[in-house]
Amino acid sequence: MFRRVYLDNAATTPVDPRVLESLLPYLRDKFGNPSSIHFYGQGARSAIDKARHQVAEFIGSRPNEIVFTSGGTESNNLAIRGLFDANRRHGSHIVTTVVEHPAVGSVCESLTKEGAEVTVVPVGANGCADPGAIREAIREDTVLVTVMLVNNEMGAVQPVSEIGRIVRDLRSDGRKIWLHTDAVQAAGKIRVSVEDLGCDLLSLSGHKIYGPKGIGALYVKRGVRIAPQNIGGHQERERRGGTENVAFAAALGTACEIASTEMDENAERVERLRDRFESEILEAVPDIVINGIEGPRSPYISNIAFKGIEGEGLLINLDMSGVAVSTGSACSSGSIEPSHVIVALGTDDDVARGSVRFSFGKDNTEDDVDYVLGLVPKAVENLRRLSPRYQSASGA
Ligand SMILES: Cc1ncc(COP(=O)(O)O)c(C=O)c1O
Repeated sequence: MFRRVYLDNAATTPVDPRVLESLLPYLRDKFGNPSSIHFYGQGARSAIDKARHQVAEFIGSRPNEIVFTSGGTESNNLAIRGLFDANRRHGSHIVTTVVEHPAVGSVCESLTKEGAEVTVVPVGANGCADPGAIREAIREDTVLVTVMLVNNEMGAVQPVSEIGRIVRDLRSDGRKIWLHTDAVQAAGKIRVSVEDLGCDLLSLSGHKIYGPKGIGALYVKRGVRIAPQNIGGHQERERRGGTENVAFAAALGTACEIASTEMDENAERVERLRDRFESEILEAVPDIVINGIEGPRSPYISNIAFKGIEGEGLLINLDMSGVAVSTGSACSSGSIEPSHVIVALGTDDDVARGSVRFSFGKDNTEDDVDYVLGLVPKAVENLRRLSPRYQSASGA
């Protein structure tokens, strides 16, 4: 029987009903501007303050180290451009990895037009960067290292704590160098503690943790200087001008609080679902590779390469049966180039082209997995029958 199964939670998640409830009052009667000193303003101000506490608690920071932004992309821009602009006199070299989201990779690249030099460190077959390679890439003039915590395409967990130790050691030797991590896909999936990670800047996004799209946060460690990229009023302690998005900040606060309390239980359950899905797919479908399976992974993502077919073909096929998955990152879909992340694993072109991301969420059930398992083997078989690439490779 036809059903809808959403397995694209790394692209976005539905808004949790409790999150929705918490934001509505600020779109109705509590509509004040937090900068106003009257009753209405005070109501909005206290909502922002509460949300700031909730976000801070979620990542183990102080509330005044949280800057609300419009999402993960803006957080990354503010972290990277903001740190670079404010600390140019200390150097202009940036170290990053080849598997970053474009909201990091393209920002670093854009800075090369403004005098930055960027070293892009490769990853191993498991999708992880080697902290030793990051250390080797750091130069005298390196001001920023930016490495994501969980990869959005295959879920690889990067060794950010180890990199944090390297950066901290350099700083205790008097070096002016800082660490940013894009934790957009990590938040709510694995524990995120700025203390344990040893990072100076950390990006979050609301819509990946059952909050609305268009809200995010940047953690800026006390004492770290960033230049605002939104120039305007004095909001967010001079770090981001513009009237605060009160309702969505409140929503992000609620989403963080819910994620804190429910994360462990959800992760355990979802990991079991994901593991069953992978082991049954491996049994039912020949010539597949689970990308990044050898490394530490987020329990929520399974990226599978079906050799001999285009990932898009399977995506469309599954969509017609009610199942939502994706290929590459959502931001690059529509492009027929294979994903830069899967290519970075050193896989051959066939694997990169046939890769599909199944990203689970807290609402997925065993029945969802059964439904998808009932569709994928047949769909892949049909696509392969029509694939000259697969037919010639398998000698059929
Ligand atoms: C790792 C990562 N960073 C940043 C972003 C961008 O976040 P937002 O959509 O909130 O701008 C995404 C979204 O796909 C992501 O997966």
